[in-house]
Amino acid sequence: MTKSEYEWNMSKSKEKKIVVANWKMNPSGIEEANEIFSAIKKSAKRAKNATVVVCPPFTYLHSAKKLYAKSNIALGAQDVFWQNSGPYTGEISPGMLKDSGAKYVIVGHSERRTLFDTDEIVCKKVGAAIRSGLVTVLCVGESARDGDGKYFQFLKEQILSSLKGLQKRHLEKLIIAYEPIWAIGKDAKNSILPRDLHEIVILIRKILSDHYKAAVASRVKILYGGSVAATNAAELLLQGNVDGFIVGRESLSKEGFDKMLGACL
Ligand code: PGA
Repeated sequence: MTKSEYEWNMSKSKEKKIVVANWKMNPSGIEEANEIFSAIKKSAKRAKNATVVVCPPFTYLHSAKKLYAKSNIALGAQDVFWQNSGPYTGEISPGMLKDSGAKYVIVGHSERRTLFDTDEIVCKKVGAAIRSGLVTVLCVGESARDGDGKYFQFLKEQILSSLKGLQKRHLEKLIIAYEPIWAIGKDAKNSILPRDLHEIVILIRKILSDHYKAAVASRVKILYGGSVAATNAAELLLQGNVDGFIVGRESLSKEGFDKMLGACL
């Protein structure tokens, strides 16, 4: 490692980590949601070097907003629509999310891409969310890995197609979450290896700096998501060189999330 690489690593390791709890469509009732909200509040109090962002289903945001009013936890949503108002039955606008207390929004999660969200839709959502001032967590990731590294090209196209029309200044509100589909959820056999994650982090920074200015691109936070738990969090952070995580299943387990945050210290 060169001296400047070492210095860069050291300064990165001191930066606050971002841990996004993605609850997906869980838990099934508000009582249980409130219990988990309270447990996360306690855990986050101790995690001084992490920004904890809780992304519950839309209908729980209101309750969380009250509970987290004076805490160090930020709220986020799991999706957003790109129009501000109008005849769009079932959709929720960036402004509505902000009114509900959300400061962050996840866009382009693979589970949404499987249902409805094409690259074009993801791009519209990213643009609208960022322009409205929401910190936007753009999820990207391949469904499988091939021996020829075609997934590198896939990732490049996925990232660039989502950022079409965005300018340098918009990158300040952008976070990229690398979530390989094969590592997500209960059917995943493994999480990613830290060295493979590091390779992807370098690739994402290169894609951003080729497209925008290197100095701006280097400030974009990169998260990892896919089977993150207390057992792998520390090495993924340190060796994978990410700025934090998106955590699914483990964010619904009071004990598991607490231990995982502890491992990020
Ligand atoms: P997981 O999900 O932590 O349960 O693998 C992560 C995600 O889908 O964001």
